[in-house]
Amino acid sequence: MTAFDEIKLTQMAKRAGCAAKHPPGYLLPLLGLLPALTDPNVLVGSATADDAAVYKLSDELALVLTTDFFTPIVDHPYDFGAVAAANALSDVYAMGGRPLAALNLVGFPEDLLPPAVLGEILRGAAAKAQEAGIDIVGGHTIKTDEPIFGLAVVGTVHPQKVLTNAGAQPGDRLILTKPIGIGIITTAAKGGEDKLGAIREAIAVMSTLNRQAAEVITEMGAHAVTDVTGFGLLGHLRNMTAASQVSAEIWLARVPVLAAAWDYVRAGVAPGGTHANWRFLADWVTYAADIDKEEQLVLADAQTSGGLLVAVAADQADAMLSALHQAGVTAAQMVGRITNTSEPGHINVSRG
Ligand code: CO
Ligand code: CO
Repeated sequence: MTAFDEIKLTQMAKRAGCAAKHPPGYLLPLLGLLPALTDPNVLVGSATADDAAVYKLSDELALVLTTDFFTPIVDHPYDFGAVAAANALSDVYAMGGRPLAALNLVGFPEDLLPPAVLGEILRGAAAKAQEAGIDIVGGHTIKTDEPIFGLAVVGTVHPQKVLTNAGAQPGDRLILTKPIGIGIITTAAKGGEDKLGAIREAIAVMSTLNRQAAEVITEMGAHAVTDVTGFGLLGHLRNMTAASQVSAEIWLARVPVLAAAWDYVRAGVAPGGTHANWRFLADWVTYAADIDKEEQLVLADAQTSGGLLVAVAADQADAMLSALHQAGVTAAQMVGRITNTSEPGHINVSRG
């Protein structure tokens, strides 16, 4: 027991983690109303639904800029801080970048929770930042009705080595580096229905940095990379295939899934964000006749701090997969391939 075992942060959150994200398609029409980007040094902006912006400083050096924050996805304040930090850092890794420093973004209900809870959130985040080899150098705190936490992260990348959503090519293999099903498990835990105690494993997955995976991927070279968060595996793959003007195929039997997620989704548990993803994906995804609704929901499940999804040349895919396993990214699997250019953004799901 610690002083924080009584705290149930998720009970204060109306929507948890990346499931609190607006559904795909919500922001895009609004971005269209804003002035077009004019600075030629913006190498990656908001046009391709990428993970982070990239700003060129010189021919050798570019900044990676990103922010991510959300309401509690887990009950313990320390875990919440660690997960939120790992999630925010992930967008730098997903661009092929190396984080430099970060700032805390905090909303805290000071009349509902003692300040020590915020201290634990910040301590969890600081530990993750340390693991990433960076310091958290400042931040900003406001009063809110629910706790909100995340980071703004700055990193660097070589301007020629930026990994975006947009480079996937027909024939590429797709590798996913973490298991999915996190949204389903955290929703079960929040509702007191985590009978299998799967939340511990889910927290371990969420608080694992994508650092090791990113090091292997940047060293070996990939055509396109994104991290799998609120839009789910299929939603982020849809963004990748649309930006790359290609279509793709997912092999369900190869997709790593946290085992308890199957039990819970079949018992009717899935976050609202997952259902929203599934509805949005109806226009983009063709499921084989033997893929049932629950399997479709798992593939669309809103993740928090999920793994990297990589499109890599077919002749390098096996080598990358073994290098990932050797680097400790043991859950990594080859989950599908990029097919052709005739239906940009389209995905076929088969059992595989
Ligand atoms: Co991302
Ligand atoms: Co993000």
